[in-house]
Formats: sequence, C-alpha cells, structure tokens
Amino acid sequence: MEKQEIRTFGRRHGKKLSARQQWLLDNILPTLLPKNESGNELNILEIGFGAGEHLRELAIKNPEKIIIGAEPFMNGIASLLSAITDEKNSIRPEYKNIRIYPDDVRKFLKDTDSKFKQIWILHPDPWPKAKHEKRRLLHSEFIKSLSDHLANKGEIIIGTDHWEYYDWIIQEIKKTKLKIDLLNIPVIQTRYQNKNMAETNHPKYLIIKN
Ligand SMILES: C[S@@+](CC[C@H](N)C(=O)[O-])C[C@H]1O[C@@H](n2cnc3c(N)ncnc32)[C@H](O)[C@@H]1O
Repeated sequence: MEKQEIRTFGRRHGKKLSARQQWLLDNILPTLLPKNESGNELNILEIGFGAGEHLRELAIKNPEKIIIGAEPFMNGIASLLSAITDEKNSIRPEYKNIRIYPDDVRKFLKDTDSKFKQIWILHPDPWPKAKHEKRRLLHSEFIKSLSDHLANKGEIIIGTDHWEYYDWIIQEIKKTKLKIDLLNIPVIQTRYQNKNMAETNHPKYLIIKN
C-alpha cells in the first residue's frame, strides 16, 4: 500500500461558496486541468497559490508560457476562477494560459515528468508549533524532488515572512546539493501577505538552483 503523505495544508473548504463560484468549480475548473506537458520545458508552476493573485500576474507577464497552479483549498480556487472569467463565464484573454491542479501538489508531481522553468512557493504554511513541524512542506526530500522537475537553468523561488521558517528552509536546502541565491526582483503582495502584514516581518525570498 502507498504510504499516506502527512497533510501540509489546513482546510480544503471554507465558507459557503456563492452559486456562481460553485458553477465555476463544476463547469470551468474541469476545462483547466493540466495536461501532460512533458517535452515543454518553459512552463511555470506555482504551489499553494491561495486566491491566485500572483498566479494571475505570472500569466499576464508570461503569455507564451503555460502557468500551472496547484492548490487544494476550494475557496481559493473559486476566487481565482471568478477573477479570470468574464460576465459570460469565458476565460479572459490574458488568463488563457492558466491551468489548475485542485489538490496536493505532491500528487501532481508524482504523476508527471514535466519540467518547469520556474517553481514558485509564496508564503507556505509555516506550521509554527513544534508539534506541527512535520507538516511543513519544504523539507529537504520535497525540495530535492522539486529540483528533479526543474528544466535546464530552472529555479525554485520561495518567499515567506515567517523568518524562523525561512531559516529552517535554508537548513533543509543545505542538506541537499542545491545552490541558494537571493531574489532581487520585486514580488507582488499576495492576499495572505497583506492580511498578515501588521503581525509579521517583511517577506524574505530565496532562489534554489541545481
Ligand atoms: C499561507 S497560504 C498562502 C497562499 C498564497 N500563496 C498567498 O501568499 O496568499 C498557503 C497555501 O498553500 C496551500 N498548500 C499547502 N500544502 C499544499 C500542498 N501540498 N499542495 C498545494 N498547495 C498546498 C494551502 O492550501 C494554502 O492555500
């Protein structure tokens, strides 16, 4: 039997969805599932996109690339679907390159040999209590498995305003042979970051390369 992965996310469902959001989940989401894109090494993956602000920005900035977002939180997916569709429920032209994997990214990566030019992870759940540390997504084995999905010169970009988690991630990367760099391009503020700004520090970003 396959080993059950430890759950790295909180809820899959939040407050009740509007009728339109439920319609979008039932009718539009199935048309946006990622297809096997092996051979195409230009795509971008965002893990845990939340409500998708940054994913949408990636789509607009990279019209020639497919942008795949993985997120198990259905309310977040519904928010993204509302933002990328017009009043006739058609995908807005600037978002035609978005694909959505509505579940745990680890399942997605197990079933694909796709390679990505960039893999983004913004504000991964920090799981701050010691007893929850095992729920953190970015432990060394997972980071290593992500690096197997990097295209030539590909990079993993991580951002968090939880400095203790940031330092912990660096220690995890040091257990691998991967290289660490600092990011020097601006990154938009996501919903999570905005919500937490009063309580936390400014985000720190890093890049991992093979
Ligand atoms: C703190 S939120 C940040 C959301 C968004 N990146 C932002 O900055 O607003 C972390 C997100 O990661 C998602 N997540 C956690 N584990 C995941 C996994 N294994 N695969 C995909 N997404 C995951 C959660 O559902 C949650 O939406």
